[in-house]
Amino acid sequence: MAKIILTGDRPTGRLHIGHYVGSLRRRVELQNSGLFDRIFVMIADAQALTDNADNPDKVRQNIAEVALDYLAAGLDPAKTTIFVQSFVSELTELSFYYMNLVTVQRLQRNPTVKAEIKMRGFSESEDGSDNKAGTPVGFFCYPISQAADITAFKATTVPVGEDQEPMIEQTREIVRKFNSTYAPVLVEPDILLPDNAACLRLPGTDGKAKMSKSLGNCIYLADDAQTVRDKVKGMFTDPLHLQVSDPGHVEGNTVFTYLDAFCKDEHFGKFGDCFVGRKSSFSFKNLDEVKAQYREGGLGDMMIKNFLAAVLEDTLGPIRERRAEFAKDIPAVMEMLRKGSLEAREVAAQTLAEVKQAMKINYFE
Ligand code: TRP
Repeated sequence: MAKIILTGDRPTGRLHIGHYVGSLRRRVELQNSGLFDRIFVMIADAQALTDNADNPDKVRQNIAEVALDYLAAGLDPAKTTIFVQSFVSELTELSFYYMNLVTVQRLQRNPTVKAEIKMRGFSESEDGSDNKAGTPVGFFCYPISQAADITAFKATTVPVGEDQEPMIEQTREIVRKFNSTYAPVLVEPDILLPDNAACLRLPGTDGKAKMSKSLGNCIYLADDAQTVRDKVKGMFTDPLHLQVSDPGHVEGNTVFTYLDAFCKDEHFGKFGDCFVGRKSSFSFKNLDEVKAQYREGGLGDMMIKNFLAAVLEDTLGPIRERRAEFAKDIPAVMEMLRKGSLEAREVAAQTLAEVKQAMKINYFE
């Protein structure tokens, strides 16, 4: 069986380093591994509209921004089909048929939907009166639409963050239900999670559980070097590490979580002078040695932050440069998306034809 990847992002803002370590970096590795027959990366604008119906400009503006983030991070349109969800109208059609295979009760139990309804303040009041906005039906059904995204391309592998696990489970259920009710047309996908705990959910610079635009605690792939340095300087560390000589805590210390996500041994050769100071100097070979010293005491937050800033710049510098280069020609970026969307549409149309045949609604063939 062909090995096929499908994944995507909602275009509601520029991508940040949480997206990068949580998914984008992995996608580029998978793309370059040569282990997959086809790779599809989707800008999920239709899904973004399910809770941004009144803000189409935001979604529209972020199509090119997200595409630039993709290209800058190393996705290559020659190897990966990058496309826009709404252009592939077959996905909407598939969603409509899949809706018959999912119950309202099952959707209500989807933990991600539940959490998001709460977070967005969609839920109705106790007495059922409509004093809050309520949940848009389209939003409530987005797990079904996501199953359409995945199955239209017969994806075997979906690299996403941990929060998407319930979506993949829901997709697998729909596939089983479809295949047993009609004919074995659809493929059950596997989720591919980040392998490093720090990357599963990178905290915000304020130490909050999640990096998110609304919390204002993000480092964006498009941030300039000075902005990144300033954000690192303002980061939360260990509140108990008041004096440099105090023993410090590594667990739950955001600076160390970021180092877990970004630091490689080679960085100690490159940026070892961050640990050379007027009062004390250290020579570390790897992150474990830094952690041991921090726990023991004597290692100041400033040194570690300077080192983290250098480590981040080592990754983000080249990404930023590539981004600026691609940003010079937005029409070329849009043309790349148009071509990718045409390609994606062909594949989705083929699956839709098979689906309609299995459902016996191919009357005019
Ligand atoms: N729900 C995903 C997110 O919020 C985006 C997405 C839409 C997606 N369709 C998908 C991810 C299909 C993987 C597969 O990031």
